[in-house]
Amino acid sequence: MAEAFILGIESSCDETAAAVVRSGEQLISNVVASQIATHQPYGGVVPELASREHLRAIVPVVRQALAEAKQTYETVDAIAVTRGPGLAGSLLVGISYAKALAFALEKPLIAVNHLEGHIHAVLLEERQKGNRELQFPVLALVVSGGHTHLYLAAQKDDSWMYENIGHTRDDAAGEAFDKVAKVLGLGYPGGPVIDRLSQHGNAKAVKFPPAQIKHRDRRGRNDGRAVEADDDRRRFDFSYSGIKTAILRYVEAHDMRESIEQRRQALGKIAKPKLEDYLGHCDPRTLDLVASFQRAIVEDLVGKTLVAARAYDVATVFVTGGVAANQELRQTFEREAAKEGLPVYFPSRPLSTDNAAMIAAAAYPKFLAKDFAPMDFSAEAGLVLR
Ligand code: KG4
Ligand code: ZN
Repeated sequence: MAEAFILGIESSCDETAAAVVRSGEQLISNVVASQIATHQPYGGVVPELASREHLRAIVPVVRQALAEAKQTYETVDAIAVTRGPGLAGSLLVGISYAKALAFALEKPLIAVNHLEGHIHAVLLEERQKGNRELQFPVLALVVSGGHTHLYLAAQKDDSWMYENIGHTRDDAAGEAFDKVAKVLGLGYPGGPVIDRLSQHGNAKAVKFPPAQIKHRDRRGRNDGRAVEADDDRRRFDFSYSGIKTAILRYVEAHDMRESIEQRRQALGKIAKPKLEDYLGHCDPRTLDLVASFQRAIVEDLVGKTLVAARAYDVATVFVTGGVAANQELRQTFEREAAKEGLPVYFPSRPLSTDNAAMIAAAAYPKFLAKDFAPMDFSAEAGLVLR
């Protein structure tokens, strides 16, 4: 197979990233410029600020990725860039720059779906470790700030095919982590903080009702099989807006508002709060609430994914996306999947959250298939993966 050094560029949300990957199997450089500090005061990503930050960072980040890989604009074989899904204004910064490079350098341009990228983060690292034993079909849980999606993934020759068999009906799991952290005055992004604080609380202290997925009205349908197939699919849908509301109610019922406001102000004064700072401003009730919240999300993600894995009789499970960095999620998946003899793979933590190595890796099969993007392609904020 042809060897190729692919420069990947990713700017779909709040990280400006560039990487060089050789032939989808060797990560040579991986640079990520995070915008967390920019968005932190607002408790979430502000799209206009994100685009401005991408504009500022894109050129130095790409230069650094090339320099660290000991490559130049001339030596790379193709330019790959995230087409969507994501914030349109942010995506456009990466796409415009990638197009300009491809045009000026007369190199192929490859458009990659961000979700496909998250799946290929796992493939890249397994290949890099020399694991040639991956069994198919694969069920991939992509769980991030924007997505909680289950895909069946299969490879045919050089191309990959995906089938979505479940998705969130409302909030993504990462979004729930971020919103709950905001409600509790823990800052942004919420996932990493809740992950660490959960280890200091009692995860059995607060019970949350299981997510209710509303089923479509069955009346007026006489095609029994279609209803059955529909219902079967909904078994693998997720919903996390209910738990967020339950937390809000808990906060009200237990008069936590004032102490939350004090915590928000105290933590807001610390540039980069450490675990001790968070712990110093959290009472046991808050720690229990955070741990119980995380346990509920983890059990739901693991439970539904493993039921789907059985229903579709898959050979392997991938868990990827920002929330895949979560320690309890990893441990629970490993423990529960092992009981069923099902191998489960995660990316390393740096490749779980947004990065461009996953984009360069996902581009390699397209490079082999000469599946190049025309110069007039544009960002697609709601791009779906199939
Ligand atoms: O994949 P990603 O970097 O960006 C998107 O494509 O959305 O995921 C970011 C999301 C955020 O919601 C963040 O809170 C969550 O991933 N996250 C975590 C952890 N690290 C990041 N959630 C739970 N535990 C973590 N350790
Ligand atoms: Zn992502």
